[in-house]
Amino acid sequence: MPTDPREGDEFVLAVPAKLDDPFPDLAYLREHRPVFFYPPLNSWFVFPYDPVHDLLQDPRLSSDRMRGFVDAAPADARPGVRTMVPYLETWMLMKDGADHARVRGHLQKGLTPAVVKRLAGPIRAAADALLDAAMPRGRLDAAGEYAFLLPAYVLSDLFGVPPADRPRLIAWSLAFVGFFNVLPITTQTAGDFVRSGTEMVAYARDLLANRRAAGGGDFLAAVAADGGLTDDEVAGNVMLLLLAGHLAVRNLVGNALWLLLTRPDQFARVKADPGLIPAAVEETLRFEPPVTLIPRVALEDVTVGGQSIKAGQVVQLSLAAANRDPAHFPDPDRFDLGRAAGHHLSFGAGVHGCFGAALAREVATIALETLIRRAPGLRLDPAGKIAWYRNAANRGPSVLPVTWGGAPGPG
Ligand code: HEM
Repeated sequence: MPTDPREGDEFVLAVPAKLDDPFPDLAYLREHRPVFFYPPLNSWFVFPYDPVHDLLQDPRLSSDRMRGFVDAAPADARPGVRTMVPYLETWMLMKDGADHARVRGHLQKGLTPAVVKRLAGPIRAAADALLDAAMPRGRLDAAGEYAFLLPAYVLSDLFGVPPADRPRLIAWSLAFVGFFNVLPITTQTAGDFVRSGTEMVAYARDLLANRRAAGGGDFLAAVAADGGLTDDEVAGNVMLLLLAGHLAVRNLVGNALWLLLTRPDQFARVKADPGLIPAAVEETLRFEPPVTLIPRVALEDVTVGGQSIKAGQVVQLSLAAANRDPAHFPDPDRFDLGRAAGHHLSFGAGVHGCFGAALAREVATIALETLIRRAPGLRLDPAGKIAWYRNAANRGPSVLPVTWGGAPGPG
């Protein structure tokens, strides 16, 4: 029997209102129930830093969590969802061991440090173009009109998608997120996912053929030149990159802006020294991770913190709780740009550690740097209303109205 409501009826992930600020409950669980089985979700949860860090890279836990999605779709939507399985099965995110290393290794050829570096110019140009449109207005929804669009444009550039097709990429991304993040899965979200997935896969195959013919140094051209993956494997992983690389970056940029604009002392430091922007990005990642929970499935019986996890059971690793573990981060509930460079777990750890981390950092740094430079006097818009996108695994503002005073900044 639970001894505290936070271990039962009031479990943090079971009470939607608690998603606004889950951190006090996560702190309680981290201290009192570090490795915790929650029967209504039929899952284990792990909260302290050390076991989360270790389990993220423990080969006794599998990353293959796809079957659950197919089985969780309503019966009438399952045949459609099954048509997507051959593509979902290509995702590096879901693979273990040698097959994971094979797929990730080939895709890595397309996202080298040199490719990320080459994207810096287009990222800056895209950020400036978005702000050019907003400058005369003096106000902006920094989430919807900026942090949401910028990573979509960057992924378009990465894949060689022409600007006219960007809205399609965005629509696909939203449909994928709806399927994976809105639980329970409905006939609607499953149908949207299958329609969008089918369209996107056809589009990605055309793009690949096009880049293969054209050659050059972009992501798909490099992956095509490497030749180690089938077209289905490339198309499937383009879907994954779109899903993984869009809203998480929006959430990172939105969270960073919200944290800075609600903490004038920290914001003043960044304005005085823009060289601190990468530190602001890192501290935002630690303090408000865009992805808060990572699932694994036990391949064999595993004992963690004295608890017996059985083969086949789901283990949810709480990055949000781990990142505020006082054993690793002194005064963890303080957002502090002066914190020593961290080892937060917001990009995961080990072989599955985020494939796009360097790109995400680059986009977020440029997004913040460009907005802060061009909009001196940047502040939350008192006439606007902030809206949040918060569920069990994702956190960030979906609407973040900001404004600025004085003359428009230079381009
Ligand atoms: C702030 C933004 C981002 C955050 C917080 C984030 C977070 C994560 C995390 C926590 C994982 C580990 C998953 C696991 O262990 O199961 C991961 C993996 C991954 N991320 Fe990211 N990510 C971000 C941006 C991106 C971007 C921009 C891309 C692509 C361009 C991307 C592509 C991927 C892929 C493909 C994987 C799977 C890697 C593998 O399984 O080997 N992510 N990400």
